Amino acid sequence: MRQHVNPLSKNFDEIEKFPPLIEMFEDSKLNLHLDIGCAAGEYLFDLALENTNWNYIGIEIRERLVNTAKLKVRDKEIKNLFFVFGNAHNILNNYHNKFLIKNLKSISFNFPDPWFKNRHHKRRVIQPEFINFLSNLMKKGSIIYIKTDVKDLFEYMDCTISSDLNFERIEKKDFNYSESFNPNKVQTSREKYVLGSALEIFENIYIKT
Ligand SMILES: C[S@@+](CC[C@H](N)C(=O)[O-])C[C@H]1O[C@@H](n2cnc3c(N)ncnc32)[C@H](O)[C@@H]1O
Repeated sequence: MRQHVNPLSKNFDEIEKFPPLIEMFEDSKLNLHLDIGCAAGEYLFDLALENTNWNYIGIEIRERLVNTAKLKVRDKEIKNLFFVFGNAHNILNNYHNKFLIKNLKSISFNFPDPWFKNRHHKRRVIQPEFINFLSNLMKKGSIIYIKTDVKDLFEYMDCTISSDLNFERIEKKDFNYSESFNPNKVQTSREKYVLGSALEIFENIYIKT
């Protein structure tokens, strides 16, 4: 069992700045997707290699994983994938990085850490203030995806996002996956484990109106 990282620790006060999009990607005009809490990034590597008509960014708070992922991007010469280390809240909230949110087509939160104890809920990545911040900057029509195997966390995330009047839930049956960042339904590492263990997965999609 891995040790969870406390995102509220002062260690994460210093943030990495995103370079301009033209320095991050070979074609900066492609649709842009952000995966928050991407761990080692296997999911994003799969997506980036499969969907060369999208650009992908992963943010992860465990530095060692990000360093390894960055080396892999360089070694494999992948031109549509970029990783950033740190607490997603601090990174995106920073003045220098806000431009990125305005350029996003979608954001995914895949199996975020549940932080089960009540006194630890403030460590959860989805927070009302963070969702409000995103909803003010994300462009109309952009999408948020959430996925988890923890029912209580799912209800909390759904309630938090649905409480923001700028986001509307889309029924999965009405959603056109073929035009999304993940047309072939690539699975994350945690998702593969959960499906292999026959556990239930809870997911929702929201559009910025
Ligand atoms: C349970 S793992 C899921 C990893 C991956 N998304 C998957 O589905 O396999 C949650 C990940 O989110 C990262 N994380 C938690 N809080 C974060 C934060 N505030 N900012 C960035 N990453 C965070 C954790 O370090 C961990 O790698």
